[in-house]
Amino acid sequence: MEPKQKSEQFIGQPRLPKFAVPKHYDLKLKPDLVTCKFTGTVDIDIDIVAETKFIVLNAAELVVDRGSVYFKNESSSKEFRPLEIELVGQDEILVLEFDDVLPIGKGILGIGFEGTLKDNMKGIYRSIYQHNGEKKNMAVTQFEPADARRCFPCWDEPACKATFKITLTVPSELIALSNMPVIEEKLEGELKTVCFQESPIMSTYLVAVVVGLFDYVEGQTCDGVKVRVYCQVGKGKQGKFALDVAVRTLELYKVYFALPYSLPKLDMVAIPDFAAGAMENYGLVTYRETALLYDEQHSAAVNKQRVAIVVAHELAHQWFGNLVTMEWWTHLWLNEGFATWVSYLAVDSLFPDWKTWTQFLDQLMEGLKLDGLEESHPIEVEIGHAGEIDEIFDSISYRKGASVIRMLQSYLGPERFQRALASYIKRYACSNAKTEDLWAVLEEESGEPVNMLMNSWTKQKGYPVVSVKFIDQNLEFEQSQFLSSGSQGVGEWIVPITLCCGSYDVQKNFLLRTKSEVLDVKEFSAECNWIKLNVDQTGFYRVKYDDVLAARLRYAIEASHLSATDRFGILDDSYSLCMARKQSLSSLFSLMNAYREELDYTVLSHLITVSYKVAGIATDANPGLADDIKQFFVNLFQYPAEKLGWEPKQGESHLDAMLRGEVLTALSEFGHDATQKEGVRRFQAFLDDRNTPLLPPDIRKAAYVSVMQNVSMSNRSGFESLLRVYRETDLSQEKGRILNSLASCPDPAIVLEELNFLLSSEVRSQDAVFGLGVSKEGRETAWQWLKDNWDHISKTWGSGFLITRFISTIVSPFSSEDKANEIEEFFASRVKPSITRTLKQSVEQVHINAKWVQSVRSEESLEGLVKELASRK
Ligand code: BES
Ligand code: ZN
Repeated sequence: MEPKQKSEQFIGQPRLPKFAVPKHYDLKLKPDLVTCKFTGTVDIDIDIVAETKFIVLNAAELVVDRGSVYFKNESSSKEFRPLEIELVGQDEILVLEFDDVLPIGKGILGIGFEGTLKDNMKGIYRSIYQHNGEKKNMAVTQFEPADARRCFPCWDEPACKATFKITLTVPSELIALSNMPVIEEKLEGELKTVCFQESPIMSTYLVAVVVGLFDYVEGQTCDGVKVRVYCQVGKGKQGKFALDVAVRTLELYKVYFALPYSLPKLDMVAIPDFAAGAMENYGLVTYRETALLYDEQHSAAVNKQRVAIVVAHELAHQWFGNLVTMEWWTHLWLNEGFATWVSYLAVDSLFPDWKTWTQFLDQLMEGLKLDGLEESHPIEVEIGHAGEIDEIFDSISYRKGASVIRMLQSYLGPERFQRALASYIKRYACSNAKTEDLWAVLEEESGEPVNMLMNSWTKQKGYPVVSVKFIDQNLEFEQSQFLSSGSQGVGEWIVPITLCCGSYDVQKNFLLRTKSEVLDVKEFSAECNWIKLNVDQTGFYRVKYDDVLAARLRYAIEASHLSATDRFGILDDSYSLCMARKQSLSSLFSLMNAYREELDYTVLSHLITVSYKVAGIATDANPGLADDIKQFFVNLFQYPAEKLGWEPKQGESHLDAMLRGEVLTALSEFGHDATQKEGVRRFQAFLDDRNTPLLPPDIRKAAYVSVMQNVSMSNRSGFESLLRVYRETDLSQEKGRILNSLASCPDPAIVLEELNFLLSSEVRSQDAVFGLGVSKEGRETAWQWLKDNWDHISKTWGSGFLITRFISTIVSPFSSEDKANEIEEFFASRVKPSITRTLKQSVEQVHINAKWVQSVRSEESLEGLVKELASRK
């Protein structure tokens, strides 16, 4: 018997069948920005490589008329028409069945189609902007990972590379952009048809189109590549900083990768509605406004840095990703891990005083954090279905990925590493590569066992904690898998151990290849006061010191013998070991107290993050201690607060400007009265004059938080004023800053209002996630709100990756087993592939917190210590 549907044989497969290989797309699109529909045709040059009656390609949410479909064989000129066509929704494929067998050889497949410009920020979609007080629509594309199929039928897999010739028909007054430069424009009444030059070979996820009204600023690299930044009409000036970064970064990458940028132009566009931070489309990079635009008057130092990092990241993809592309999504980390790592390299070279490599430790720390969960995944991850791809754009692919690259670079040395990378790029240019291809080139160039070393980091999840003991002039090392839950994992790694002894000049390195090892340190242990492992935190592992070594390190911190990176590492390892209940909270508090004179931006900013977390846990464990805990942290940040003050100093560093905001915000969050009062006072001045020197952008968040800390249902005016500032500003970064501060209010009723505001039409759906970090007092309210609004939230954000942020931000702070069960129960009937992993990770974090709180309760010495620390001004 014939199968009911012939297409059945193609259903449920992760990859498309390989009967036909696309070589070239001639794509014509006509978006209608009034009705929000689009029509199009695509003629695809294909090679039939096996005789077949079927052609199977991707398409989703498109209407395809059977009459429009044809296949024409090149040598015989014979035209074939399909007998049947079927769009299989769940697999997003279009199955064309022909009457006759299509002969092996070249041919053209033609398809006509139409669809809708939706508001879901994927495929080809609509974004809304204001022009002369009027709302207007623009058409934008976002195809990564697998949404080109929502715009035109195609082989939507990264390895199916082809050339593209794109033609757009649009209203004549608008600007139409695509990957390549325009070669011809024809005016036809109210419309114009814009033809773009044919692209080099590229993957479908990198194709892009933007149609709307824009201003631009323009620059040029020394090779003559034209670079433009497009933004809303009237905001041209705000594009200048990104333009400058882009031009210099292209020049830098040309040297680093030993290959120039491969297209004749590079456009970068700010898009008002955009789900990710930015997207590296070949020659047409799209950004959120906050990641591209910089306003001299109203952007903060942290915004400036974000722009530089994002631009450097997306431009890195022009080589790593666009020119050399991952073979399949399993190797996504090759794209994202590398772009993340290289972006730090570029920004460090452009802005040396930003200490970018110290700031890289935020990436390392986030990678270690996620990978310390049992529900983590290996860097190289199986992908069964396109729906699973979104969730792997996570801290494992980006941050662990970037961190293991840094570890390898540090092991091989920067010169060898760069040489090998350049030859990898050259070898795989215009082609696709897998993880092992990169290792092979690095191994060839360096003669080191790169493949073996790196497999232990990319093919298994997790990482080790290396315990080190000093016994009889020997150092004893032992590795075991680190898990935040405190459980025993089974993983084993090849660990590049580095250590220094009493000074950075006395170093020793070796590969720990087995579970344990002993190192004789007689030769240099005599005069060394302290021993630090994982020098500069280049390794992706944690270190647990025995009591003697730990005490000496605490002393070394107080005596300023250690680098900022090492101070950071000691703090983060100790914090994590404490969470895993391998160390007491008292010992962590004592360690934190050693950072009283800390002034490094990255270290202090992490100290603040750790403070929030442990204050929450300690208060859950012992509510009676809440005030003393707050006082301890207020004391801890007194020194930097006094050094920095509220007023920016003439000519001060970028890092001090950022630090001031963070320290004052922390003091305000911890209830420091004088800070809150000053914040409120300055906010009042700001309300009278948005350009007041009393509230420069770097300290605005501190003032906003101070305002919200004092808002309640009976004293709402600060909240209303902040909403007014939100409504009046047209700078996205200002809106973001406000959303970020609003939930920092101790009155749950206000928190609820704020959360509802996030769902209103006043907040773009891309931005709602910024307002979810509620105060401790608002935690329960936020959870109830999430449940009450789940249907709406799931409908609005459910088709992208933003939905995961609702879950992780609201769920993870809880710290009781009952709550963990309640959460699991609620989601039992609501879970779907795009949130499965995040949900499991968030619930695991709640279990970890619950156990942590329990163990803190049994720490007898804690209360006395906290009271003592609170009294030490
Ligand atoms: N390729 C991504 C954009 C992306 C993210 C597409 C998720 C599809 C799903 C882009 O290169 C990227 O990584 N953007 C980052 C910014 C970067 C500086 C880390 C982002 O969007 O946050
Ligand atoms: Zn990226």
